[in-house]
Amino acid sequence: MQDYFWLDVSPHSTNSLTTRLIENAFANVSGLQGMKRQLSDEPLPNITADYARAVTQNLAFDHPSYAISEQLINQLEMSRALIISTPVHNLGVPASLKLWLDYVLRSQRTFTSGSEGKVGLLADRPTIIIVKSGSRIVNNSRQQDFFTPYLTFALNIMGINQLSFVYLQGFDVNIEEQNAVQQKIQLFLQRLL
Ligand SMILES: Cc1cc2nc3c(=O)[nH]c(=O)nc-3n(C[C@H](O)[C@H](O)[C@H](O)COP(=O)(O)O)c2cc1C
Repeated sequence: MQDYFWLDVSPHSTNSLTTRLIENAFANVSGLQGMKRQLSDEPLPNITADYARAVTQNLAFDHPSYAISEQLINQLEMSRALIISTPVHNLGVPASLKLWLDYVLRSQRTFTSGSEGKVGLLADRPTIIIVKSGSRIVNNSRQQDFFTPYLTFALNIMGINQLSFVYLQGFDVNIEEQNAVQQKIQLFLQRLL
């Protein structure tokens, strides 16, 4: 078991503001062990016909078509907490994050469906989602927030319900806002100790 799994979605990799703030927070909290997956540096392959067939025909979990999905789900299963740092792209989650979800949201593996709806099969865990957007997405009458409800619902389906969204909104986020976000991340990390 490890303390956290960090999914970094920014196309700017280590040059991203969100990545920098998380790394600063980690520098002030020692003793945590975990794993980071940078989706731009290490992109996931598109969904293949084999994977789509395996999912829709409910093939056995050891079928080779599930290899990537199993690896990504295992990374979640072996982590006590989840960190997602991501931009908003065209009103929602970036395509690379959607692709990750397409691999980890699996019927009978990470959720089941019954008369009461979907039931998550993963252990719930503290989760922080640090969201960077070019304009305001929260309470903005001119830009509807599809990002937060979609990602909330997708994670809830798997049983991940302890979600904290932290927003960096606008192209020029001032230093006070950056510090406030770093403090929130630091607090989240300290609670994992
Ligand atoms: C393809 C693309 C689509 C974007 N769409 C939105 C959007 O719908 N709403 C928004 O507020 N910002 C949008 N942005 C701006 C990014 O969210 C913003 O540049 C953010 O800082 C990116 O975070 P990053 O530096 O971690 O990549 C978009 C940027 C790109 C590249």
